[in-house]
Amino acid sequence: MTIRPEDVEPEEAKAAAPADWRSDPQFTEPPRVPWSELGPDFIKVWGRADETNPQPEHWEIVGPTGSGKTHLMLTALQDRYRARKTGAILVVTKADDNVFQKLGWPVVTKVDEIQDTNVVYWPRTKRTGNARREFHDQRLQQLLNKLWQPGANTIVAFDEVGYVESLSGDMRALVQMYWREARSVGITVVAMKQRPQGALRDMHSETYWTAAFAPKDRSDAERFAELFGHRRDWLPVFDSLDPDLHEFILRHSRSREAYISWVDTRRPGLRALSVLAALPPRSPGGVEQLPREVAGLHGPHQRTWPWPRRVTRCPSGTTV
Ligand SMILES: Nc1ncnc2c1ncn2[C@@H]1O[C@H](COP(=O)(O)OP(=O)(O)O)[C@@H](O)[C@H]1O
Ligand SMILES: [Mg+2]
Repeated sequence: MTIRPEDVEPEEAKAAAPADWRSDPQFTEPPRVPWSELGPDFIKVWGRADETNPQPEHWEIVGPTGSGKTHLMLTALQDRYRARKTGAILVVTKADDNVFQKLGWPVVTKVDEIQDTNVVYWPRTKRTGNARREFHDQRLQQLLNKLWQPGANTIVAFDEVGYVESLSGDMRALVQMYWREARSVGITVVAMKQRPQGALRDMHSETYWTAAFAPKDRSDAERFAELFGHRRDWLPVFDSLDPDLHEFILRHSRSREAYISWVDTRRPGLRALSVLAALPPRSPGGVEQLPREVAGLHGPHQRTWPWPRRVTRCPSGTTV
């Protein structure tokens, strides 16, 4: 399996981006809507662009480190599970990031430890350098090959898709297959990346939803803006994002509807923290043994999280 060079976004931006004065006559400034209002509608329509024929809709999330990508994704996955019982497998390759332990989902390191969805797949190793990359390559290929079954009906979320793609030619081809064909086996791909450069083009062409946080610098801002449309329309929108509030733009590529939003809701996983703090150490098998009340937040015995949710429609109508 090989990837053709033209399938990959160039790593470096064009030396000096040529002036581009085009703009879209249909362009309107996206309204600001907090997640407490936008989220419920997004969760309702995600994967249901055509109500008569619901299909998985992939989602890319771009933003520099610390912008809030993981926080948004975990919030959305939990919201979706609560509303629609769609399970997810979260693929993590970081050396350490305690945010995933806070989630309250079981953490597994091997494919055969996965018993159900709503699990963090986190193959950890003490190896470094190439040995570490080979370990990740092998464990992630095992996962993606195993999940590839008709009617898989799950969400696969990559916390660092750029790293995953870079592991090997086979891995990159597997990720490309997921972007292009996972819909046919009922898999929704959610992928996070720091910048669009160097990504498989499929990440943009095959996604229905894009979320982007405030970019790190001007050159990234231009590339982010191009993901959304004309630079002249979108650069000022990116300039208006407040990184301290973790603001992002969410856009549906089919309807072109876009909103500026920020996660203003508490994640239920955080509630599990106090219970997690009292947990016994991890079992020797590597699977986190969670007390029922924590696992129950996300598993089959899930309880409704009693947060005050305002049920409001998005200002501009029904598409999001
Ligand atoms: N909407 C938010 N409200 C409060 N804190 C947030 C919000 N979004 C992110 N954070 C915090 O900011 C930090 C970075 O967020 P994170 O999601 O890990 O960023 P990224 O995944 O882009 O590197 C974390 O400590 C996270 O808890
Ligand atoms: Mg992150």
